[in-house]
Amino acid sequence: MEINNPFPILDYYSPAYFCDRQKELQTLIKAFESNRNIILLSIRRMGKTGLIKHLFYHFRSENKKNIRLLYIDLLKTQSLSEFVKAFSNKILQDEQQNENWFKKLSGMLSGLRASITINDKDGTPALEFGYKTAEENERSLESIFQYLAEQKEKYLIAFDEFQQITSYPETNVEAVLRTHIQHQHKDSFIFSGSGKHVLISMFNDYGRPFYQSSEMVYLERLDVDEYAEFIQKKLKSGNKKMSLSLIKETIKQLDVHTFYVQYFFNKLYEIRSTQIKRDDVEELMDNILQEKEYVFFNYRNILTSMQFNLLKAIAKEGKVSSPNSSDFIKRYDFTQASSVNAALKSLSDKEMIYKEYGNYRVYDVFLSKWLERY
Ligand SMILES: Nc1ncnc2c1ncn2[C@@H]1O[C@H](COP(=O)(O)OP(=O)(O)O)[C@@H](O)[C@H]1O
Ligand SMILES: [Mg+2]
Repeated sequence: MEINNPFPILDYYSPAYFCDRQKELQTLIKAFESNRNIILLSIRRMGKTGLIKHLFYHFRSENKKNIRLLYIDLLKTQSLSEFVKAFSNKILQDEQQNENWFKKLSGMLSGLRASITINDKDGTPALEFGYKTAEENERSLESIFQYLAEQKEKYLIAFDEFQQITSYPETNVEAVLRTHIQHQHKDSFIFSGSGKHVLISMFNDYGRPFYQSSEMVYLERLDVDEYAEFIQKKLKSGNKKMSLSLIKETIKQLDVHTFYVQYFFNKLYEIRSTQIKRDDVEELMDNILQEKEYVFFNYRNILTSMQFNLLKAIAKEGKVSSPNSSDFIKRYDFTQASSVNAALKSLSDKEMIYKEYGNYRVYDVFLSKWLERY
């Protein structure tokens, strides 16, 4: 599929628009082939969802009849019943392409106590659930897993934003799921998410069988050289030239954070110049920051002045390893380590900063650039 702009920022298109991740792709393929589950981690917007779709694309293009792929986004789910709904609707959508799907699913549907509604506009079916008690939801889950186990095909089931299940009001979701998944020998699972601590502890703290059968993949930043060459080729496809060194510099300026790099080059692709120079890069950066300024200014109202000043200090430093060292505290006129620590925690909880390999950084690369100049 051809698209107008070779730097998509909203969705995965095809391998042609996806840079590298060869090693990670092979790891995921091997894990599936040897029935190991994967825990896929990274900071937000680094490329987890893209990688899962890339993997699915790979399996689809192989056109194997004995593999079924289910991608389930849990981001918007807030309870076990919404989990059940998202999961079973995906199965329905997947089955719907086959003949006799209704008959095939009837067993599962009666277990779910759900009815099928047909969308007036495009005729797609969806499941509708009445109110259910927690026990009923657990039984629904049981019929879903039982259904999967009865199928002759091997399923690859990706739960994206899996950490979401820890925020459900039901307390035992993790344990219930773990039991099911542990017994689902035929199928493989990918648990993907950015709440690193939550996910790691979920898989470490419980019984070993679950942990042992899972393999952790941490998605790092793309290789700068590789990414720069990829970008140069894409620019060239639109008759645009840009030197490799300037591309690399730009990628690094954007923290090699995939979403922000894609976003920047998506916009850079649309400017008129055919020979892209440093001035073009700087002008675009100014424009982007100006466009977002309204939102960024508002953070001053949402955050306490301590939090805002700490955020600014981290942005100015780029990364900070010892935010409670006396050196750092003095440099930015903070009063004491305890107030810095409280602000750190609060900014982390709000996901405005993150800690990676011992360094704190501002999550939003553009916000960080803006604060640097502020
Ligand atoms: N390897 C890649 N090459 C090109 N674009 C990518 C790549 N990985 C991710 N992207 C793009 O970057 C953005 C963020 O990636 P996403 O997969 O949504 O991150 P995450 O799921 O980790 O939050 C998306 O627009 C996605 O299309
Ligand atoms: Mg994602």
